[in-house]
Amino acid sequence: MLIGAELEKDLLAQATSAATNAYCPYSNFPVGAAVISTDGRIFTGCNVENRSFVSGLCAERVAIAKAVTSGSKELGAVAVHCIKGNPSDPDTLMPCGACRQVMREFMDEDAAVLIEGVGKFALSELLPRAFHL
Ligand code: THU
Repeated sequence: MLIGAELEKDLLAQATSAATNAYCPYSNFPVGAAVISTDGRIFTGCNVENRSFVSGLCAERVAIAKAVTSGSKELGAVAVHCIKGNPSDPDTLMPCGACRQVMREFMDEDAAVLIEGVGKFALSELLPRAFHL
């Protein structure tokens, strides 16, 4: 899905806004995400941690689960903002590996992944040779 510069800015802004709702008392590392479905609906997510750490949820997967729950299973792009990531160490701003695989479940390999402070990637650049059955 091709999205224009205005929509890219909007998705990134919605990711930033979603990060303000993050529940991350354990990491103090708020993350926001926004996905757009191929039919133009936008869903946002933030990380939701838990005192049982493995039960925590990443922002990207929360946004994707909201899209799927609302009936949108074909996603065209995703924006991510790790608002306390360190711009001079860009890997602190990147989506985790598990989220990349979950993105691939619902997005084409050429879908755009917009990362605040880093840039724009095709999903296949971030997850070459994704697992498939
Ligand atoms: N986190 C995300 O929400 N998305 C990612 O792609 C990377 C990590 C969250 C999980 C945890 O709440 C916090 O960031 C620190 O790892």
